[in-house]
Amino acid sequence: MVGSQAMEDFRARKRRGERITALTAYDYPTARLLDESGIDIILVGDSLGMVVLGYPDTAEVKFEEMLHHTRAAARGVRRALLVADLSIGTYNASDAAVTNAQRLVEAGAQAVKLEGGVSHAAQIDAIVRHGIPVMAHIGMLPQSVREEGGYKVKGRSEAEAERLLADARAVEAAGAFSVVLEIVTAETARRITEAIEIPTIGIGSGEHCDGQILVTHDLIGLYPWFTPKFVSPAAQVAEEIRRAARHFIDRTRGSL
Ligand code: KIV
Repeated sequence: MVGSQAMEDFRARKRRGERITALTAYDYPTARLLDESGIDIILVGDSLGMVVLGYPDTAEVKFEEMLHHTRAAARGVRRALLVADLSIGTYNASDAAVTNAQRLVEAGAQAVKLEGGVSHAAQIDAIVRHGIPVMAHIGMLPQSVREEGGYKVKGRSEAEAERLLADARAVEAAGAFSVVLEIVTAETARRITEAIEIPTIGIGSGEHCDGQILVTHDLIGLYPWFTPKFVSPAAQVAEEIRRAARHFIDRTRGSL
């Protein structure tokens, strides 16, 4: 279990203006490669539902799948903080949230992430009181994408910005050690980042956050059928796989 000192270190890094880096991993080799690269946080995100399991969204992800992939990623992590997502329906009430957070920790996670602000402060508080660090997640909430009717930018209006500020303050007060801001306008993300003492980790939320997180498949071009607008891939791994497969096919069939 990671101590409260490690969590305090994240706040200290915010105070010093040191940016925090986070990427997703769902398996042993990816987790090990990211860990060896020096990433601060590895997230076993429920985005695995889309980029690994082929579901349409994260609402399909089962908790057993989160446990399975958390165990795999944990085997590859020596140094980074390993955070795992509580999948949809696993933290509606505080007692279930605590039990399921404990199961992710048994699977190898050092902290858990859940979606929601004011609405889920009680669950965050309960998990933290049981000694498990929590990363909060506000803004666009992928587990609610069906109710929302798509992945929409948050924080455009003053009323929405105020609601997000209230969410950020609520998760900080509940004891979260950091908060993901997903697809929040850059200006609202800046206001939230200045308003709270825990680090904000942005995804599609501009440059003013204390850190940045991406789905690794988006960063490395391993899910070429959809790339979010805010991602500039740093590699084209899908193309490399296709190239290597074609090379193998040609070599095997004797044309090389
Ligand atoms: O599931 C996930 O990968 C996430 C990140 C996009 C923040 O929640």
